Amino acid sequence: MPGMLDGKSALVTGGGGGIGRATALAMAREGARVAVADFMADAAAETVAMVNRAGGQAITLTGDVTRQRDVKTMLDDTIVAYGRLDCAFNNAGIAPYQVDASGKKTAEWSEESFDRMIAVNLKGVWLCMRAEIRQMLAQGAAGQKGGAIVNTGSIAGLIGLVTSSAYVAAKHGVLGLTKTAALEYAEDGIRVNAVCPGFIKTRMTEDAIRRRGERIMAQTPMGRMGEPEEIAEMVVWLCSERASYVTGAAYNVDGGWMAV
Ligand code: NAI
Repeated sequence: MPGMLDGKSALVTGGGGGIGRATALAMAREGARVAVADFMADAAAETVAMVNRAGGQAITLTGDVTRQRDVKTMLDDTIVAYGRLDCAFNNAGIAPYQVDASGKKTAEWSEESFDRMIAVNLKGVWLCMRAEIRQMLAQGAAGQKGGAIVNTGSIAGLIGLVTSSAYVAAKHGVLGLTKTAALEYAEDGIRVNAVCPGFIKTRMTEDAIRRRGERIMAQTPMGRMGEPEEIAEMVVWLCSERASYVTGAAYNVDGGWMAV
């Protein structure tokens, strides 16, 4: 059976982490050649090793998505390796505990914590989108129109969540960027969508689960956390031709959280 992403070239940021790694593996399983980018070089390299062991093709990229120059290098290296960019998953992100804001309400956040959160989870997505869209437009001008971008939103992009102020603001912003770019580039065949995970088992949620795990489970209709692979399946579909009429959308993969 042909893969859903046969012949495509894909970039995944945060590819060393839980959701990014599962998605890189799923993309490779579906036939894509994958550029795995992460701040943590070792983690990205481990994902690449896993893809290779599974018979797929991948390369390691290292960089910080908040730095324009790093983002440009990631794109350049992807094009050197694969010749083009068809799919991009802008997924690198951090949680409040990673900016020293664990358990803090809005008025308790420091300016430094707020700025870093917005830099990684919002500006980083925009910097990546900008570089990816420019590349996809250039390919279009050369006769190979189109592309698919998926951004990692969150249920925190749709509702408020206590003690997650700047995280929530950034994720709402990601959905705004997603919808706007979808409108702007629809005619160019570039589809831009978001996936909104609920609580997924990764390093990111360890802190929240420790502090209020029971409450989170009780609030999740399916009564369990999600697996990173369950997000990956949505991303693969959104990147594939099967989602050819889908753009500007944000899909919840949350065990029913947003339906309550
Ligand atoms: P994770 O911590 O396992 O992975 C995040 C990855 O992003 C890490 O490998 C990290 O090194 C990388 N990263 C962080 N800052 C970076 C930067 N400045 N430049 C490049 N890479 C950077 O966490 P997870 O859960 O896989 O998170 C992935 C995305 O999913 C994030 O955007 C997160 O906000 C989002 N998300 C996660 C949920 C969950 O329950 N785990 C729920 C909703 C959204």
